[in-house]
Amino acid sequence: MSVTREHHGTMPTTTTQEQRDHRSQREREHAAAARKAFIAEGFDLVADTYGTVDGAFFEASAARLVEHAGVRPGDRVLDLGCGRGAVLFAAATAVGPDGYVAGLDLSPGMAHATAADIARRGLRNVTARVGDAEDPGFPSGSFEAVLAGLMLFITPDPAAVLHAAHHILVPGGRFAMSAFGALADPRWSRPLDAALAFLDEPAPASSPRQGARGGHPAFDSDASIADLFHSCGFAEVRTVEETSVRVIESGEEWWRSQWSSGRRIRLERIPTDRRPAAKAAALAALDELRDPEGLLRSETRLRFTSAVRVP
Ligand SMILES: C[S@@+](CC[C@H](N)C(=O)[O-])C[C@H]1O[C@@H](n2cnc3c(N)ncnc32)[C@H](O)[C@@H]1O
Repeated sequence: MSVTREHHGTMPTTTTQEQRDHRSQREREHAAAARKAFIAEGFDLVADTYGTVDGAFFEASAARLVEHAGVRPGDRVLDLGCGRGAVLFAAATAVGPDGYVAGLDLSPGMAHATAADIARRGLRNVTARVGDAEDPGFPSGSFEAVLAGLMLFITPDPAAVLHAAHHILVPGGRFAMSAFGALADPRWSRPLDAALAFLDEPAPASSPRQGARGGHPAFDSDASIADLFHSCGFAEVRTVEETSVRVIESGEEWWRSQWSSGRRIRLERIPTDRRPAAKAAALAALDELRDPEGLLRSETRLRFTSAVRVP
C-alpha cells in the first residue's frame, strides 16, 4: 500500500491510496448528483412547452428511433428519458395493444405531464414515472427493447445506463439511442451564442467537438460509441447519421423554439434586463443565415445507434 504524508498546519496526517480513491469516488458521486439535479431542474422548466414549437421534428426523429430499434407488435419497451413522450407514443403505436411501454424521466415535470397525456389518450399499456436511467430498477429480462431518445449523452454516466439496460433486456434484446451530430452548418451556432454573450459569465453553446455537441465525450465518434457499447456487453453496434431539414418561419418562431427546449436552461440565466438585447442580437445573427431565397433553412443531423444484447 502506498503511503504519503500531507501536512495541515502543524498536524501531520497520513493519507493512504485507499483513502484518496475513496475521496475521489465521493467527489465523482457528488458531481454526478449535482449534474442530475441540474438536468431535472432544467427539464422541469420546459416540461410544459417541450417539443411544442418544433413538434414535427421531434415526432419524426422519435419514429425513426423506434424503426432503428426494430420494435415489433407485442414487445415490452423501456423508454429512458421519456420527456414529453415523443418516443414513448411512437413505441406504443409500434407495440400495439399486446405490447407494453414504460417511460422514465429524471424530471418530475416531464414524467407527470407525460403520465397525464397517457391518461388523456386512454392508453392502459403505457406508463411514465420519475426514475433514473442509470438505475431503472427492473428485474432482469423485463424488456425486448430499451430506447434512449436524445438523452444518453446528457446523463453523467452513460456506461451505467448501458450496464443497466443489459441487465433488464432479454438475451438478444435491442438497445437504440439518438444523439445530435455535428452542426451541418457551423454558422448556425451563431444566433444562440449571440444571446449567451449576455450572460454574466458568457459561454458559447457551440462545442468545438464534432460529436454530441457538448455532451459526453464517449459520443464524439462512431468508433468511441462502438467501444462504449462493446464494453457494456452489446454487439452488432451500428451508427447511422440522418439529416432533417426544416424551414423556420420567423425569428420569433426560432426564439420560441429555443425557450421550449433544453437550451432554455442557459437562456434563463441571462439577467432579465439584458434579455431584450440578447434576443435582438440573436435574431440579427439569425437573419444573416437566410439563404438566397430569403428562407431560414435549418439542417439537423441526428445519429442513431442500435445494438443487440449479447446473450
Ligand atoms: C432532450 S430530452 C429528450 C426527451 C425525449 N426522449 C424526446 O426524444 O423528445 C432529454 C430527457 O432526458 C431526461 N434525462 C436525462 N438524464 C436522465 C437520466 N439519467 N434518467 C432519466 N431521464 C434522464 C431529461 O430529464 C429530459 O427529459
